[in-house]
Amino acid sequence: MSKIRAAITGIGGYVPDYVLTNAELETMVETSDEWITSRTGIKERRILKGENKGVSVLGIEAVKDLLSKKQIDPKEIDLVIFATVTADMTFPATANIVATAIGATNAFSFDMSAACSGFIYALATGASYIQSGMYKKVIVIGGDKMSSILDYTDRTTCIIFGDGAGCALLEPTTEDVGVMDSILRSDGGGESYLHMKAGGSRLPASHDTVDKRLHYVYQEGAAVFKFAVTNMADTSALLVERNKLKPEDIAWLVPHQANKRIIDATANRMGVTEDKVMMNIERYGNTTAGTIPLLLWDYEKKLKKGDNLILAAFGGGFTWGAVWVKWAY
Ligand code: UT7
Repeated sequence: MSKIRAAITGIGGYVPDYVLTNAELETMVETSDEWITSRTGIKERRILKGENKGVSVLGIEAVKDLLSKKQIDPKEIDLVIFATVTADMTFPATANIVATAIGATNAFSFDMSAACSGFIYALATGASYIQSGMYKKVIVIGGDKMSSILDYTDRTTCIIFGDGAGCALLEPTTEDVGVMDSILRSDGGGESYLHMKAGGSRLPASHDTVDKRLHYVYQEGAAVFKFAVTNMADTSALLVERNKLKPEDIAWLVPHQANKRIIDATANRMGVTEDKVMMNIERYGNTTAGTIPLLLWDYEKKLKKGDNLILAAFGGGFTWGAVWVKWAY
């Protein structure tokens, strides 16, 4: 019997309308368009405005986009995984809210917390359910409403992140395409460099935690930068080597959009030229779990069946990894 692989058979995406430019950030914190552009590559990011709108809004719109393109009945969906660190609430899972809103009434659903590596973790997890033969249609979503946990008086973090979500449909195939291999890693020692201190069970919300501004992203940027460059590049290189892929075999590098300098370093290490690197950081900033599916969404029309894609990410945890995908359509 031929091996069952999980093929990505469709992509959806959504970014909110509001554009937060570097020029507007210059009016909010002590920064400049020149500093942001040269240090990160970001020009603008999207922000979800309005009361009572959580990340589920982004996820629902992304899946609606996917469903309308694929014309599938949501009742056929078996599983929905939502990778996010900005869930609507601590519980229930945002995936439950999204699955019901899109009419996936026969699915089970859960959230996955792996920060910027969330989408590749969820992709590998969803693919395993398909490869096992257990399920036929899995939707994997990556998205974050980072604006809900950013301190817009802290210039070291508020300039980096934005809001957005993307998603992929996974279906079984016996062709030589789909999710081919992955390397995923984590190191809880990264906690001290990148975290949100309060609001969890260790330090629940109180007047004190609010007064001390502990419900926002805390990042030691330069330290995270070093870990990101090393781990994202090493893991991608290892994945490529163990599958005997040469630089010329790689059609696209699909790197997490944290910083253009980290992306360039990863591409250099792999011997991949700039024209093969997907990039949209200048328009969306770092949307955490949203970056990789939003790249696939933006570049979908340029992809051809059989293209080798290396998806690579690094994020809070620390979490990191790389996934080799052979494009299926
Ligand atoms: O996606 C999850 C994983 N996260 C990442 O991969 C992020 C990794 N880190 C980075 O991308 C970069 O470290 C940052 C973009 C966050 C910061 O860039 P950097 O080149 O590492 O800057 P830095 O933190 O070393 O700061 C350099 C200087 C400092 O001033 P002094 O101390 O040298 O006087 C900062 O205060 O730049 C200053 N600075 C700013 N200046 C203008 C920091 N943020 C800003 C700003 N505007 N927004």
